[in-house]
Amino acid sequence: MSQTLAIVGAGRVGCVLGRRLRELGWRIGPVVTRSAATARAAVRAIGAGTPYDRLTRRLLAADVVLLATPDSAIAAVAERLAQIGGSEWRGKVVLHTSGALSHAVLTPLRRVGAATGAMHPMQTFGRRGMPNLEGVVFGLDGDPAALRLARQMARWLGGVPVRVEPAHKAAYHAAGGFAAQHTLVVLEAGVRILMRAGFTRRQATRALLVLARQTLANLQAHGPRDAWSGPVPRGDWDTVARHMTVLHQLPPEYAAAYRALTRLAVRLLAPQPKRWLAQLERALDARGRMR
Ligand SMILES: NC(=O)c1ccc[n+]([C@@H]2O[C@H](COP(=O)([O-])OP(=O)(O)OC[C@H]3O[C@@H](n4cnc5c(N)ncnc54)[C@H](OP(=O)(O)O)[C@@H]3O)[C@@H](O)[C@H]2O)c1
Repeated sequence: MSQTLAIVGAGRVGCVLGRRLRELGWRIGPVVTRSAATARAAVRAIGAGTPYDRLTRRLLAADVVLLATPDSAIAAVAERLAQIGGSEWRGKVVLHTSGALSHAVLTPLRRVGAATGAMHPMQTFGRRGMPNLEGVVFGLDGDPAALRLARQMARWLGGVPVRVEPAHKAAYHAAGGFAAQHTLVVLEAGVRILMRAGFTRRQATRALLVLARQTLANLQAHGPRDAWSGPVPRGDWDTVARHMTVLHQLPPEYAAAYRALTRLAVRLLAPQPKRWLAQLERALDARGRMR
């Protein structure tokens, strides 16, 4: 691979993709962030590249530019890059990594001749560590040339490219939020509840991670209906009512989340959702009645 990649926005995603692509033989050109210190740190993390603390004409020397800034900065960066390079963008490929925005946000660059696209890894990139990209779905959209390259890049990275219609990008990204942020916060809420019941954080985390992993394994092996367990599929409505009684002693988001998620579980997983929902509502309203 003799192509040069430039990176604008080298935080969690930019650094991981940059490093993996470097390991795959890409040359790394400019690495742009908002400060000299973060740009130098990014170059160290990627293992190559030249740090810049602002957008520069040097980006035009790259074949491909990856924009991995926060979603809110992409439009302004695209506008500024189009001003900086004008028709010199012809023949270049510019890809952003947002899951919620389509390649339309790069229209200023498209107008001056760049092929534009989006390449979003459906993976979570935390503050620390290098997430695995093997088997990760990359949601793609873009102009034909950008899409072709993004598809290849996703495969080189070990991922599975899937085309996402621009009109569906926000929904596609919201789905990822259920699996990443919502899973995380639901487990953290469970940990806090166990800690109030006397567990250490370590014990609580261990208890719930074992449970969550088995739930995911059951989902993968047998599908959602057969993986579903707990008081609701057993019809133990009094147990649900007992849960509500104690959850009402916590900050209101706990009971609200339990209520919303249990309703959603019945809607999605129960064999006769309507009939079950009526029983569920009675149990959820049992505030203070159960001992
Ligand atoms: N994190 C995830 O799990 C994940 C997963 C898939 C896709 N994505 C997408 O990937 C993109 C980046 O997310 P991230 O989590 O990697 O963000 P991040 O860790 O916050 O990194 C953002 C980077 O952009 C730089 N930046 C911010 N504004 C800039 C500007 N105006 N010009 C140039 N650089 C700018 C920041 O520089 P400084 O360091 O100097 O502030 C930082 O290097 C987003 O579109 C996000 O939706 C994220």
